[in-house]
Order: sequence, then C-alpha cells, then structure tokens
Amino acid sequence: MQVISTVAELRQRLDQQASVAFVPTMGNLHAGHLHLVELAKQHGQCVVVSIFVNPLQFGANEDLASYPRTLQADCEKLEAAGVDIVFAPAEKEVYPAPQTISITLPPIADELCGASRPGHFSGVATVVLKLFNMVRPDVAVFGKKDFQQLFLIRELVKQLNLPIEIVAGDTRREEDGLAMSSRNGYLSDAQRLEAPRLQRALKLVVEAVQKGNQDYTAIEAQTTQFLTQLGWIVDYISIRSAETLHPAEKPDRKLVALAAARLGKTRLIDNIEFSLDS
Ligand code: PAF
Repeated sequence: MQVISTVAELRQRLDQQASVAFVPTMGNLHAGHLHLVELAKQHGQCVVVSIFVNPLQFGANEDLASYPRTLQADCEKLEAAGVDIVFAPAEKEVYPAPQTISITLPPIADELCGASRPGHFSGVATVVLKLFNMVRPDVAVFGKKDFQQLFLIRELVKQLNLPIEIVAGDTRREEDGLAMSSRNGYLSDAQRLEAPRLQRALKLVVEAVQKGNQDYTAIEAQTTQFLTQLGWIVDYISIRSAETLHPAEKPDRKLVALAAARLGKTRLIDNIEFSLDS
C-alpha cells in the first residue's frame, strides 16, 4: 500500500490502472468504512481511499478542530484491508487558493441535515467533485448512513454527467444497533448506553407506518417528543420518499425514516429504508 499526499504523484501512480474504485473518507476509520473498502475491492482493480478532513463542510461552531485525526492507525487498518493507495493530501493540496467556486445544490440540500448545517452539503459536493477530479475513479463508494449525502452525490454525478458509478454500502452497526460513526467516540459512557435508542425510535416509526398509520406528521412529532423527554435534542425525525427525499406522500411506496439528534454535544444521524409493499 502506498500513502500519497500530492495530486501529481497520485495521477502518475494511477495512470496505468485499468479500473479505479474510490472510497472518500475523513479518516478515523471504523468497520463501516472497511465495509465500503470491501465493496470497492469488488468494483475495481485498484482501490484508493482518501483521508481528508474537509474544512468546507464544517460550520463555524462545529467540530473541525477536534475532529479525530488518526492517520497512522487508519493506514494500518487500510493496509490490512488490502487497499492499494491512501490519498492523504494536506489542506493546501486540495485548496491551494481560496475556494471561491462551489457547487450549488438543489433545495433538498437545505432540508434535513442541511437545515441545521447551512452550506454543509455544498462543502461536501465541492470537495467530492474535486476528489473525483484528482482520483478520476470509475466507481466511488459511499455509505447509506449519510443518506442525504448519498442522494446528493448521486444527483451531482447524474446532473454533471460524471462518468462514475456510485455504489452504496449498508450502514454497519454496533451489537446494540448504534450506527457506526467516527463521532461515536465523543459519547460519554452514559450517552453511549442511550445512543442506540435513536435506531430503536426509527424502528417504531417504520412499524407505525407499515401498520397503516398515514399521519406521518403526528408520528414524527410523537417520536420527537419521546426522545426529547429522554434528554435528546432532536434536530429532525422525518419520513421521506427514499427516491426523491421529499416528505413522504400517500402514493410513495419506497420510504426512508431519517433522524438527527444530539446527546450533549454529539450529533448522531441514522435512517431506515423501508417499503410499503409487503
Ligand atoms: O462522508 C464523509 O466522510 C465526507 O462527507 C466525505 C464524503 C468524505 C467528504 O468530505
């Protein structure tokens, strides 16, 4: 495995590759990322993983400074997983000049996570497009835990005619159901015990909808109230079309229940995709 930090070296190394599968990450890797690597290995001869904590996607009061940077441990995991290249550029390599051009996304980017993180998805889309141009992959793999991110990246690829196949990896969970996330490490012991409740609450949402309750607004409000009473600061609980991400309506059959909520300072997100056809 080679660790490369410049675009020039990356291009030279990738020049002769028949097919490249790419996993963009911000590091602090866990089993969820390694699952994406496994998928990448099935889709390309050369697997590239980028590790770059992208300042453009963090808000002013977010955790950019404290975001865990664990390059050495990450590289050990990636080497064991059979990755060919780690691309770990410095900030100046990705943003040699102030980034005054950015991607404008459809309005759905301002809903759900975008509502409380203004500009977040534009920052994600901008860096992903730049990374795509640097790595020039045939296939790129993203996790379904970041459902809205995955949706917007698929739109980016479609609307900008990028010749890249997007592959989605299922969410990996701890034994108690908590979705794996680099931010889980911020949780105190007590918060860690409480955290799996977010998935359990989403399961109840899914159950209610599948049992025929069509008052989605009431289900969302009740779930929000339930979590709030238990000390969560709920950002949103939302039942959406899995195909458009618009608020679910009667004819929609493929749905997704999404949640974002904080325990103390730690913001957790999760989602469950489900269908109304049984
Ligand atoms: O999902 C992430 O880790 C990041 O948003 C990504 C896609 C690597 C862009 O910085």
